[in-house]
Amino acid sequence: MSTDIDYQRVADESSLADGGLLSVSLDGGERVCLARVGGEVFAVRDRCTHAEFPLSDGSLDDEYQLECCLHGAVFDVRDGSVTGPPAEDPVTTYAVKVEDGGIWVGPPKG
Ligand code: FES
Repeated sequence: MSTDIDYQRVADESSLADGGLLSVSLDGGERVCLARVGGEVFAVRDRCTHAEFPLSDGSLDDEYQLECCLHGAVFDVRDGSVTGPPAEDPVTTYAVKVEDGGIWVGPPKG
């Protein structure tokens, strides 16, 4: 169970439009890709598990599918699972919340 102290504000809510992707950095330097679908915000590690390319350079559709633009691997931003090759390993997802006009990222899930 995470507490508020586990979350850090990484962006203004207004900086991420629906269907958009945004790369942010956590305190420890880890890059996280924010993704917004249907008003809901998700957060995944900003490194494709295929060859480490930034997922935030890819594209997001309205079915929660994030496509890496380097070789076309597809991940579901809701749980990080692989839904299209060539990636084989899921991408790490993070707890995220929208509060006080900001987007807050918490600990990695799972
Ligand atoms: S680095 Fe993402 S599909 Fe190859």
